[in-house]
Amino acid sequence: MLTHIQSVHTRSTDFFTQNGRYPSAFIQTFGCQMNDRESEKLHGLLTAMGYTEAHGEDDADLVLYNTCCVREAAENRVYGRLGRLKKLKTEQPGKVIVFCGCMPQLDDVMEEVRKHHRHIDIIFGTFNKHRFPRLLHEHLSGGLPVVEIFEAFREDDAEEIAMYDSQVSRFAPHRAGVTVMHGCDNYCSYCIVPYVRGREVSRAPSDVIAEVRGLVADGAREVLLLGQNVNSYEFGFADLLREVSEVEDLRRIRFMTSHPKDLSEDLLRAYRECGKLCKHIHLPMQSGSDRILSAMNRGYTRSAYLDLIGRLREAVPDIAVTTDIIVGFPGETEADFDDTLSAVRLAGFSGAYTFKYSRREGTPAAELAGGVSKEVIAARFSRLQETLEPMLLDYNTRHMGHVVEVMAENASSGRTDDNVLVHFESDAAPGDILPVKIEHCKSFYITGRLALS
Ligand code: 5AD
Ligand code: SF4
Repeated sequence: MLTHIQSVHTRSTDFFTQNGRYPSAFIQTFGCQMNDRESEKLHGLLTAMGYTEAHGEDDADLVLYNTCCVREAAENRVYGRLGRLKKLKTEQPGKVIVFCGCMPQLDDVMEEVRKHHRHIDIIFGTFNKHRFPRLLHEHLSGGLPVVEIFEAFREDDAEEIAMYDSQVSRFAPHRAGVTVMHGCDNYCSYCIVPYVRGREVSRAPSDVIAEVRGLVADGAREVLLLGQNVNSYEFGFADLLREVSEVEDLRRIRFMTSHPKDLSEDLLRAYRECGKLCKHIHLPMQSGSDRILSAMNRGYTRSAYLDLIGRLREAVPDIAVTTDIIVGFPGETEADFDDTLSAVRLAGFSGAYTFKYSRREGTPAAELAGGVSKEVIAARFSRLQETLEPMLLDYNTRHMGHVVEVMAENASSGRTDDNVLVHFESDAAPGDILPVKIEHCKSFYITGRLALS
């Protein structure tokens, strides 16, 4: 592995000798926080191989798209970008185009790529990301396209994975994601993730803690523990939270995502015990209709979900609950959708990601009859927004007149413990914690001025 990094680095030095500058790379990430984190690693590897930062596709010697296939819209954005690269590649044939992550794991995507995107130079999937230096070296030495897609992680790759995990660039100085588990075993009927990210594998607590310590030593003050369903972490997620909160100089801990069916009493205890654990939980509801929840294979009912929120609020008063909701799952009737709206009203969310159902080939839901038309989905989607907005405003208005602790993202914005975006004026550096007196509240942010402490 090191030899691949070194060989590419030698090429970069030769490039410098010829061009008076090092080669540059542009990374575009699509999708979730897991991909963001993996892009930090791919960026770290590129830096180790002598690449500098490019501002966009036009001036980059290497363009890398780290892709997502959860919804068709995300895929279409990638196809659009790839399409635009075709002309650039004709004008600048030396430009290296890399297409990686979740999309290449799918056969229909690879077929599309073979038909319409033959200008891509390097393709690899989610189980090969650590092999990027090897693949780049191979492409640069032979000049031929390189494709490598594994169906699972390989044990033989331990050394390369360790190198990948250690070569990390940081995109935000004050916070970082830390992957605690890979994959997902839940098989929600609409979701492609289990097919492209494989079975659940939990990282050892000692590895997670070592990574958190390293990040904190490097300036991080907040960590976001990442997994598709952290509640099924093999070694006990609440215990992991307790251990992470022992890390000195770490101020805030967040995590995502929690599956409602697996949320334990022990996690509620951890909220009470760990002061650093932010009073916020992301708890995807997906639907408020029992019929649809069952067809989605979510493993809980509407009332179990709402009860859980009640229990969370009992254990952690004022906890902010955010959610994911899918509109227009096959077979969703007006009555089902009304159930979603009423559950939304009862739940009192502080934030929500709302999605139009997207049919994913290969998932069980793709075979279901009763598809909802685009027009109906669009109308329901607007009604959901209209229901949510006043609720979010209501939630944010709670902060009015209060002095809240904000962790600065930069001099003029940051987040509260309960994850509300705050605008203010200050000369703060990222990661500073500031007291801010809240003066205005909107649905998606609040504003205030520094309070004297
Ligand atoms: N269509 C629409 N939304 C989806 N999600 C996952 N799969 C689909 C799909 N096929 C949403 C879910 C999940 C979030 C990450 O993406 O709400 O919680
Ligand atoms: Fe997809 Fe369900 Fe797994 Fe989340 S829990 S990644 S929605 S299958």
